[in-house]
Amino acid sequence: MKRSLLAAFFERMVVLALAVGLCVSAAPAAADIEADIRLGNALADLLRAGRTVVSSSQPLINDPELGDKGFSGERLIDEAKALYAKSTGASPLGGDMSERDRRLLEAQMLAMQRIVDSHQAEINRKGLGFKGFIPAVFARLANEEFAQIAGKEALIRVTAPMNLVRNRKARPDAWEREVVEQKFLSGDWPKGEPYTETAEYEGRPAFRMLLPEYYRESCLSCHGGPQGETDITGYPKEGGKIGDLGGVISIVIFK
Ligand code: HEC
Repeated sequence: MKRSLLAAFFERMVVLALAVGLCVSAAPAAADIEADIRLGNALADLLRAGRTVVSSSQPLINDPELGDKGFSGERLIDEAKALYAKSTGASPLGGDMSERDRRLLEAQMLAMQRIVDSHQAEINRKGLGFKGFIPAVFARLANEEFAQIAGKEALIRVTAPMNLVRNRKARPDAWEREVVEQKFLSGDWPKGEPYTETAEYEGRPAFRMLLPEYYRESCLSCHGGPQGETDITGYPKEGGKIGDLGGVISIVIFK
């Protein structure tokens, strides 16, 4: 009698433990989501820092008088790290960080470095002014390179509202499109606030994060008005205004 009661008790405990275990694995723990948000922000901030370096280096890159510009991948990474530290208060690989985060941020730096290094001939070409090595192109190529290195674990993309997409490769997927249209373009979305969700990417479960980006003065020589006029890169201008949603950084972290 005593033994069977005990057995029943243990049986119940096992069932309870299994049930608790199932609940925990079905819904990601808050700590996991927090860690993913931290990583998503770090990847986005580092991409932005790299783009800013390419942006502020445009006069150098586009100088037709100068051959060797000394604008190496290493230099880009040094300057991007410094910018990152200035805007976030810490260096990208500084402080306590998980192995996954370190691996993915290192992969991103390697990707950005490789893109600048593989464009040296173009960057150093004498006699040519505007070279088309602009922040958006740099970012797209670096993100593609990142996917080559770490695409099984994570992806970084830059996309935009459908009517603004220039490069077909930047077209939003159905999920991105819905968030852009239903959240970011709705009048009441808090400016700059990212959107996160545990969703799928191409059939795989993933943590997904979208960070809205708005046009600033420096964007309008290409994305501003008059709408339809050709910009220096050969694309028709979008007629955008300062503060309009110009695009989104899209982060996927596979589970
Ligand atoms: C010198 C012209 C120029 C400037 C300045 C410029 N862009 Fe772009 N932008 C482009 C071109 C060209 C592309 C397409 C790049 C490619 O081939 O992937 C692009 C692509 C983009 C994309 C990716 C989606 C797409 O349409 O392919 C976003 C988002 C974007 N730009 C936002 C901005 C923002 C925000 C700024 C200002 C901070 C800015 N751009 C400044 C020329 C420019």
